[in-house]
Amino acid sequence: MKVYEKDQKVKITLKVNGKEIETEVEPRRLLVHVLRDLGFTGVHIGCDTSNCGACTVILNGKSVKSCTLLAVEANNAEILTIEGLAKDGKLHPVQEAFWDKHALQCGYCTPGMIMQSVWLLKENPNPTEEEIREGISGNLCRCTGYQNIVEAIKTAAEKLRLDQPLYQRQ
Ligand code: FES
Ligand code: FES
Repeated sequence: MKVYEKDQKVKITLKVNGKEIETEVEPRRLLVHVLRDLGFTGVHIGCDTSNCGACTVILNGKSVKSCTLLAVEANNAEILTIEGLAKDGKLHPVQEAFWDKHALQCGYCTPGMIMQSVWLLKENPNPTEEEIREGISGNLCRCTGYQNIVEAIKTAAEKLRLDQPLYQRQ
């Protein structure tokens, strides 16, 4: 087992939004802080007990709360944050639907909520309202009352299904 000295830093590589980034971190450093320090400040911190989901990113295809993961554990992982979602300035359908359906107010929960929604729609492209509410139950919002977020996810689901070739549709 490798033992680290106090304050010793470890070299890690993160693949964030398709780009490899090398950095040095203390083993105790949380992924959320490292991502923010690297400039991905769309990743937010809304609590210190892993319940709010404002820090949600997609890591190796899974939605994770980056406040509850050490950065060293994410060594070599592929991470997608809100900043990597739009392509050449064109919004991802989930981003577009949040805009169209007024699914945000202060915007603080929004990056995490959108990343969770993107993951949810990959897992379940045709969710019921109940499945949507369950699917975002790890993401808290103080402003919207959730209703418009649910509408946005329904709209995005429809758009994403239509974008898929016929044979892939559910
Ligand atoms: S900051 Fe609240 S769950 Fe991560
Ligand atoms: S829009 Fe303000 S917390 Fe969700």
